[in-house]
Amino acid sequence: MSCKKRIGILTAGGDCPGLNAVLRAVGKSLIPNGYEIVGFEDGFLGVLQRRYRILSNLDLSGILTLGGTILGTSNKDNPFEWIPPNHMDDADAKPADYSDRCVEILEELGCEGLVVIGGDGSQSMSLRFMKEKNVKCIGVPKTIDNDLNATDVTFGFDTAVQRATTSLDCLHSTAMSHHRAMCVEVMGRYAGWLALHAGVAGGGDVILLPEIPFSMEKVCEYLQERKQEGKRFSIVVVSEGAKLNGEFVIERQVKNSHDPIRLGGISQKVAAEIEARLGIESRATILGHLQRGGSPTSRDRILASQFGFKAAELVLDGAWGMMSAWQKGLITAVPIEEAVSSLKLVQPDDPLIRFAKSIGTCFGD
Ligand code: F6P
Repeated sequence: MSCKKRIGILTAGGDCPGLNAVLRAVGKSLIPNGYEIVGFEDGFLGVLQRRYRILSNLDLSGILTLGGTILGTSNKDNPFEWIPPNHMDDADAKPADYSDRCVEILEELGCEGLVVIGGDGSQSMSLRFMKEKNVKCIGVPKTIDNDLNATDVTFGFDTAVQRATTSLDCLHSTAMSHHRAMCVEVMGRYAGWLALHAGVAGGGDVILLPEIPFSMEKVCEYLQERKQEGKRFSIVVVSEGAKLNGEFVIERQVKNSHDPIRLGGISQKVAAEIEARLGIESRATILGHLQRGGSPTSRDRILASQFGFKAAELVLDGAWGMMSAWQKGLITAVPIEEAVSSLKLVQPDDPLIRFAKSIGTCFGD
């Protein structure tokens, strides 16, 4: 092994535009400071299975604009409760704790610490590694859902808002031509940031969020009024995590996953209700992973780069346990513990909600 210092890095959880920009910024800032960058593949799974590659300056070249992650990721593998792939389909498979194996591998590879680029679930795992196994971690806040606490924004969110807004613009013209109600489902399991921001940017008439209980009566009353005013189309933006009659709409349950519920289909149910109750022809569109794929916006490239640079500074300062964050217009660092203390949810008095309500947008409440 070389005598250089080594730092591990991984991308974990659902992918998100800007991951490569972070890898590039961390690596290109640390390599000149005498570090070797050990890039683990597929998130924590790569640590557990000893799958890694040393990321050279050349490997980090030309990736700024690429979506996804050159390292791969996984949002179903938790080393503290892991089921090996060959047992995944066993009905009686019991998860076991493989975290010590991860620690051994990090030690064996000489990694001084681990930079974890991830959302709430992945940062919670970092916290467990720090507290229970003394692994030194630095966090970088990723998620298109923007629901990580202690940072005003996460990278990937801007790109997802942009994608959803562009889709709403496209659906607007076809809604107008056919005089239909278009129900558009966006991602966001517990937090409605994406639905709120895309809904406002795309001129949604109705915006339904997980944080605001809604009733179909209120939604239909509102759409009926629009019809009476002579408005012949409507755009309904709905978060996948909005609850219909107080319940999530679940697409399917996945066996032996620590994240077993896949949400999906609420837009179809809302569209069917609108059609049945008002006789307004309605269509549903689920934007799904289109919101998460592809090249990051310039804003996300800059944010991700700044987050990565900050993470490198934290490594150099030995500020273990901290996560890069964006607060009040500045890059800063916050304890990972604070970031995972609770999810950052949309508050009913959020300024954007107050604005949208003031111009007549319906939230179904
Ligand atoms: O965490 C981001 C997110 O995009 C959620 O909004 C969504 O429910 C989830 O990931 C879906 O991820 P996957 O299809 O990879 O399980």
